[in-house]
Amino acid sequence: MDIVIRNMRESDLDDVMEIEKDAFTTPWTREAFLMEITKNQLAKYIVAEIDETIVGYGGIWLIIDEGHITNIAVKSNYRGLGVGNALVEGLIFLCTKLDINGMTLEVRVSNTVAKNLYKKYGFVESGIRPKYYQDDNEDALIMWKKL
Ligand SMILES: CC(C)(COP(=O)(O)OP(=O)(O)OC[C@H]1O[C@@H](n2cnc3c(N)ncnc32)[C@H](O)[C@@H]1OP(=O)(O)O)[C@@H](O)C(=O)NCCC(=O)NCCS
Repeated sequence: MDIVIRNMRESDLDDVMEIEKDAFTTPWTREAFLMEITKNQLAKYIVAEIDETIVGYGGIWLIIDEGHITNIAVKSNYRGLGVGNALVEGLIFLCTKLDINGMTLEVRVSNTVAKNLYKKYGFVESGIRPKYYQDDNEDALIMWKKL
């Protein structure tokens, strides 16, 4: 199955929002994504397509020499097929091209699938942000990867 990774465009936002609302308990708004891709010069967002269907997306803020992954999500009926891998590889590729020295992210301590995905690409656990998620006070695990 061919997975195409490309930059996110405004015309992708209906599909992105559908995935976002399904994937997260406190989804970002459409306006937030629009700001990210049109106004935030530090942000880069990518989508994954299979047969011209948007099946996932991911974003990162590039701050000086660090990349902070903001979100990664895959459409529920396309999970387990390597789309998450392709998105993480896409973000790592972007950071490598831009001479970023390290990448970081927060992930729910209970999110074993996402933690496995990041560990696979060399992210290591480096701390906890207690009660980081406001909807249920779950802790966030901080992960880092050196490039
Ligand atoms: C996390 C998420 C992006 C993974 O996407 P995916 O397309 O299913 O992932 P892939 O199929 O590419 O698998 C990548 C790796 O994730 C891990 N993984 C995937 N499915 C798994 C499962 N059911 N159980 C355990 N680990 C799993 C494995 O390490 C896998 O590596 P492998 O391909 O060598 O087996 C997806 O589950 C998702 O959108 N979840 C909801 C949103 C979310 O939690 N985002 C992360 C926020 S930090």
